[in-house]
Amino acid sequence: MSAIKVKKSEAERAKRELKRLGLYDGRRRPQVEGDFVFLPVLNDPMLRELGYDVVPVELPMRPERQIYKNLESVLAERLTPGELQHLRRYDVVGDIAVIQIPPELEHRVDDIVWGLRRVHPFIRVVAKKGFHEGAFRIREYSIIWGEKRLTTVHKENGVELRVDLSKAFFNPRMKGERYRLAQLVKDGERILIPFAGLLPYALVIARYKNVKITAVELNEEAYRLGLENVELNRKRLRGEIEFIHGDVFEVLPELPYYDRVISPTPRGVDALALTLSKAKKCLHYYNFVHESRIAEFKNCIINECRRTGRECTVRVKKVSDFKPHVFKVCADVSIL
Ligand SMILES: C[S@@+](CC[C@H](N)C(=O)[O-])C[C@H]1O[C@@H](n2cnc3c(N)ncnc32)[C@H](O)[C@@H]1O
Repeated sequence: MSAIKVKKSEAERAKRELKRLGLYDGRRRPQVEGDFVFLPVLNDPMLRELGYDVVPVELPMRPERQIYKNLESVLAERLTPGELQHLRRYDVVGDIAVIQIPPELEHRVDDIVWGLRRVHPFIRVVAKKGFHEGAFRIREYSIIWGEKRLTTVHKENGVELRVDLSKAFFNPRMKGERYRLAQLVKDGERILIPFAGLLPYALVIARYKNVKITAVELNEEAYRLGLENVELNRKRLRGEIEFIHGDVFEVLPELPYYDRVISPTPRGVDALALTLSKAKKCLHYYNFVHESRIAEFKNCIINECRRTGRECTVRVKKVSDFKPHVFKVCADVSIL
């Protein structure tokens, strides 16, 4: 495994250049040692031509790539190195494995299913994933192996979630983010969660904290699953959840203020002013932002706060990569 060794002061510039040239290996983490940083790179003679100090270093895999790595090593038995490069990340939701199959690997579907079943012997369905569609953010799926269903029960952060991938949005990759928020919440808070889906945020927070949560969701199927999930987890919950079926833009203006608002905003929807207007102390606002516009996004929140006569501090955290240079981010807003 290769890395380049650069001075700390040059690391950001070098990383940008490597990404631009497609030489950065985002599957591994950079590592700091004294005044130097080791940046993970792909094996390419161009690196030396560019004047970089290329060294053999074992850098740790990013956690979300770890299972991917296992599939990759299993499939190395059957796929060529060129084909392996096209392998995409996948998710396991309950007993369903969900994977994107690019056109370059369409002829390898049977091998990929074989690999997934070797890495996760408990899976009962393998589904090929398409794009998110419409306001309810539901993906297109086609089942490529196993039982003909997209319903399952997914376990996460000490709760069980009944999921129907064909009817309601669910993203297992937000597990760490939900845990992070549950740790920030304090007992006794009143919390509002618009765009609540089948209630993963509400349930994880109520599992750990004695709070009162009001959640709002428009998709009737997600709402129904959310109510089932409250029942499924009833004995585990320390907090209470009130779930409202309706449009956030109609329901929120009628609701009171909350200590904390958590907005897992769907892509392309602007609910900043509305959600901020309901927050007394904290807002966690999710959005999709190009890395060059993060400062602008932050200022936009500060200005919106000032418009309502309040001051705030904003910390923007990158939650996951969405497409090159565009990230799903969470703005943690503290109202002063
Ligand atoms: C990005 S998903 C997040 C769902 C859930 N919070 C999660 O993380 O799994 C956005 C959710 O907002 C819902 N939604 C979209 N527009 C809405 C609206 N105007 N009012 C209420 N819910 C809405 C969608 O149905 C979807 O469940």
